[in-house]
Amino acid sequence: MQVELSPKPKLSKLDNVFVLLPQRKSKEEFHGLPDELAKPVEKATRQAGFSGRTDETLSVLPESGPRKVTLIGLGKDCELASSRLRSAIYLIAKTARKGRDTRIAVFFPWETVGLDPYFSTRLLADLLTHSDYRYDAYITVREEEAPKPIHCILKAPGGLSPRELKAIRREANAIATGVTTARNLANAPPNEATPTRMAERAVEVAKETGIKCTVFDKKKIERLKMGGLLAVNRGSAEEPRFVVMEHTPGSYAKTVCLVGKGITFDSGGISIKPSERMEDMKYDMCGAATVIGAMQAISQLEIPVRVIGIFASTENLPSGTAYKPGDIITMMSGKTVEIVNTDAEGRMILGDALHYAKQFDPDHLIDFATLTGACVVALGSAATGLFSNDTELAQKLIDAGERVGERLWRMPEWDDYKELIRSDWADMKNSGGRWAGASTAALFLKEFVDCRSWAHLDIAGTAYVDESARGPRGATGAGLRATIEFLQSLDS
Ligand code: BES
Ligand code: MN
Ligand code: ZN
Repeated sequence: MQVELSPKPKLSKLDNVFVLLPQRKSKEEFHGLPDELAKPVEKATRQAGFSGRTDETLSVLPESGPRKVTLIGLGKDCELASSRLRSAIYLIAKTARKGRDTRIAVFFPWETVGLDPYFSTRLLADLLTHSDYRYDAYITVREEEAPKPIHCILKAPGGLSPRELKAIRREANAIATGVTTARNLANAPPNEATPTRMAERAVEVAKETGIKCTVFDKKKIERLKMGGLLAVNRGSAEEPRFVVMEHTPGSYAKTVCLVGKGITFDSGGISIKPSERMEDMKYDMCGAATVIGAMQAISQLEIPVRVIGIFASTENLPSGTAYKPGDIITMMSGKTVEIVNTDAEGRMILGDALHYAKQFDPDHLIDFATLTGACVVALGSAATGLFSNDTELAQKLIDAGERVGERLWRMPEWDDYKELIRSDWADMKNSGGRWAGASTAALFLKEFVDCRSWAHLDIAGTAYVDESARGPRGATGAGLRATIEFLQSLDS
């Protein structure tokens, strides 16, 4: 959705004006609405008994001005969290599409709900931009049936300067571009989004934005002795890829490495997964997709931090040449790993990628991976699992996520769990079994991290979702917004 910010939107010629209303005990007047809307809205709420409960809606046909006015309840002010806003905005997009509205405006009661106007404007602009996202690349529709693009004017709160509004719009657009890149790539079927295609997409993004991008093919990966990536790749007919994207500003004080898991299809390999919902394992490259999208947004926003985006990509399939339980693999770092479960493949490719990142001597190292089912068991889709060896970085990421509507929840990577991945035959084994599965995976990764400030984001539960009140089924771009917000808050 195209989003524009205006302190005084022109109401005539609009198809639908959406007014978000919090639930109120007393029937106080709605501030911030222009007179021409305030009267019909007030009358309609009285007549219909509209009270602003969560997702309560009411359509009004005003005598003048826009064709339609739609009221949407926000629930109680005190419970007004970003997830509530997200579902209200998604409802707007669905309503507009069903009503074939192409020009809409959104009024939010900035003056009355007590949210910070700057941050909530940013959040709403972002949410609106994505609210009508659909992945329909493979849906064959006749031209006249295709949904028309929606143009939206978000009523800006008073008190924000034109400069601030411009900055918000620029930021929302850059983030939208990055998030859309990540979602499209992740939603694409695994016969399209192969490791080769992942690398190609990274190159395309790099060309567009002028950043540097280096792609390693299988030969180069062999020369670098990336044993983890090569082991996982052995069952696949598709070549692996290892990609490095570099955003280097004219002057910078800090270097941050972003590392992504790019398994374009995870069947489990010889330790094969059950077939039910195996198709969802096309999303096992969401970490890499987040890295590509983030690099695109970072360069567009000209963030004054040197950022290196790295991802390793392969399929994980069974075959006569596949790696198998009992194999001992020598990783790029030289450490040896006993394979006990070929489905614990993400940590194998990330071990090499995290080790590779060391040469950039990053101040912070952040990885994104749909790493464990155990993390989904623990947190569901409400939060990304955050593991870190640096409490300050962890808190900064959590706070950044909070500001942009992305929840991160810290989980432990204590050495207590080391016993679980101890091997009799090698330096460690690649699975610690069921208990503390998300933590033993994080601890495994830590063995390959040489950075005092590292964070691991397990996005297994948040990278893709079923259709819900908050959004459509499919990839979400998890981790991207929080990362951009964190990078923007770093002092340069
Ligand atoms: N890609 C999966 C993790 C996953 C599971 C992501 C469900 C999204 C939804 C990962 O490669 C995996 O298979 N992990 C195993 C690890 C186990 C074998 C130690 C798991 O979680 O079962
Ligand atoms: Mn797996
Ligand atoms: Zn996996």
